[in-house]
Formats: sequence, C-alpha cells, structure tokens
Amino acid sequence: MGEMLRIENATKIFRYGFLGFKFRAVDDVSMSLEDRPAIFTIAGESGSGKTTLARLILRILKPDYGRILFNGRNIYEIDSKSFYKNVQPIFQDPYASFNPMQKPIRYLRETVKNVVGIVDEREVDEHIARVVSYVGLDIATVANKHQHEFSGGELQRMAIARALLTKPKLIVADEPVSMLDASLRINIVNLFKRIKDEMGVSFIYITHDLATAYYISDYIAIMYRGSIIESGRAEKVLSEPLHPYTKALMESLPIPDPKHRRVWRQRKIAFTSSIEEAEFVIKGCKYVYRCPYAFDKCRVEMPPYIFVNESSVRCWLYFK
Ligand SMILES: Nc1ncnc2c1ncn2[C@@H]1O[C@H](COP(=O)(O)OP(=O)(O)OP(=O)(O)O)[C@@H](O)[C@H]1O
Ligand code: SF4
Ligand SMILES: [Mg+2]
Repeated sequence: MGEMLRIENATKIFRYGFLGFKFRAVDDVSMSLEDRPAIFTIAGESGSGKTTLARLILRILKPDYGRILFNGRNIYEIDSKSFYKNVQPIFQDPYASFNPMQKPIRYLRETVKNVVGIVDEREVDEHIARVVSYVGLDIATVANKHQHEFSGGELQRMAIARALLTKPKLIVADEPVSMLDASLRINIVNLFKRIKDEMGVSFIYITHDLATAYYISDYIAIMYRGSIIESGRAEKVLSEPLHPYTKALMESLPIPDPKHRRVWRQRKIAFTSSIEEAEFVIKGCKYVYRCPYAFDKCRVEMPPYIFVNESSVRCWLYFK
C-alpha cells in the first residue's frame, strides 16, 4: 500500500507587527497518510497552525521550506483541475463557502460541469440529486433555496455534497463543525465516518475538540506552536500519550465536559504574552517554558521525530 499524502518538513513563515517580526506558523511538519480510507485528525489549540497547515495541503499557501506530495507527486506539479478533483476542502463557516448572490445548488452544478466534466444536463442533475440525498438533504427542497435560507447544519451538508461530487480521495475539513449547534455536530461527524467507510474517502479533520477527535479519528497529530509534537494511532496517542504536552492535555480533559472546549479556545494566541512569542521562535523545544521535565538540552535544540511504541513524538526524554 503506497502513500497518498506525504508532507516533508513543511514550513510556513509569516511576519507580524510593525517591525515585520518573522515566525514559523508551521514549523518543520512531516507526516504521511497511507492510501487507504482513514480519518487523520490534526488537533491543537487556537493559533497552533492547523489552518495554515490545511492551506498548505490545499495549495492555498505555498510552503517556504519543505514539500507536499500527493500520490508521489509534488502538489505543485499536478495540474490544478486534477488536484482539486482528488483533494477537496470543507471550511469552518458554511456561509462563507457559498456565494450569497447565487443559489448554492448552482455552485454544485458548476462543480459538476467544470471539475467533474459531465455536460448532459440530465446527468448533471441526477449526479447532484444522488449526492445531495446521500448527505441527508432533500433535493427538491434545497434546489430552490438561497444561501441565507439554509440553516448552518444544512449548508454544511451542502458543502460536503459539493466536496463529494468530484469523488475525491481526500477531504481536508478545517473545523467543519465548530460553528454548528452542539446538537448537530455528532451527526456531521457520523456522516464523515460513513463517507469514509462507504465511499473510501480519507479525511484530514482539523479540530480543537479532543472529545470528538477521540470518537472519529483513526490517526491523530497534536500540534503545538506550529510543530507536530506527537502523532500516531488515535487510540494510542489519546490513551497513552507520550509528549508532556499531550499528557497535560489529556489530564486536564474530562472528555464529556463540553465546557472544556471553551477553555482551549480561550487560549487564543495573539502574542499577548512574551512566553507565547518566545515559544514560536525558540530554537529548542517550544514547550520548554511550561514543561515540568525540561532539562538543558531542551533549551538549545528542537528534538527530532522519534518512534516510540508505534507513535511518533518530538521530545528529548525519549532519547535518553
Ligand atoms: N496570513 C497570515 N499572516 C500572518 N500571520 C498569520 C496569517 N495566518 C495565520 N497567521 C498566524 O499564524 C498562527 C497560526 O494560525 P492558524 O490560523 O494556522 O492557527 P489555527 O491552529 O488554525 O488556530 P484556530 O484554532 O484559531 O483556527 C497564528 O499566530 C496566526 O495569527
Ligand atoms: S523536549 Fe524537553 S522541554 Fe520539550 S517536552 Fe520533552 S522534556 Fe519537555
Ligand atoms: Mg484555524
């Protein structure tokens, strides 16, 4: 079984503030996804670089260092149409995914004609009707609605339908349920599982909610200040965490408590504290200022990835 997606040392540098201070929003990220249906979750607190990584994978941003391969080819060497036929996005805000000036169904038609390449009007309609009903919507109802007449949950289902029209291999979903009512989230998450099982589509599922991550993921990567600090099979990483940061997260997380999500959310990084700023630019381990196990080496060099117990972790403790 080959690799579908391979990210090699991807780094994205942004500047901020008036002095043009540089920092790495995505810092030396490597990961890979096998060519078999799976849900690969990327979890991390606000500002850890999840969306930036998603944008790199989706070719919305270009990495400053490193490269991303899809089916063994650099994504920038694949022509755009065939790339987006295989790799589809779902964004956080379904209302922003559709133009408010035209009916969402029209966007679906354009996708079928332009990307999928079906021209016969009846075939176009049939294809759309099949996919729309698969995601749990009634075609007759949605066909006449404007963007603002949809509920958030219905419109996110339309976005999922649009993504499925091209029969993609991979869907990159960036916090796809975080703007929906808590009561609707699990239905959408279940739909992803069904799409994976029945259609063989893989997902990169980005979230800050470890409770749903636990439920949905085959694999998980934990991001901290732009770096993946631990990744592996989700049940392993979440039940036997290795990195001190993952451990602290799991200890502070009574999984069924929805209030906890808010706590994570609130730790918005806007470079308000000098520690946060220092963490983004430090040469050593970014967790060093908070880590109870830190020692001298942690301050000078970022640990490389090492495999421990089937998971990949970046922590000097495992090199001892
Ligand atoms: N275009 C940009 N220019 C400058 N800085 C940016 C840009 N986009 C993101 N950043 C910064 O990069 C860091 C990572 O942002 P990113 O949006 O990738 O985080 P995130 O993990 O998706 O956060 P959230 O959970 O809030 O969505 C943040 O400090 C953010 O302010
Ligand atoms: S490398 Fe050092 S500072 Fe970083 S998590 Fe491991 S022990 Fe803590
Ligand atoms: Mg984000």
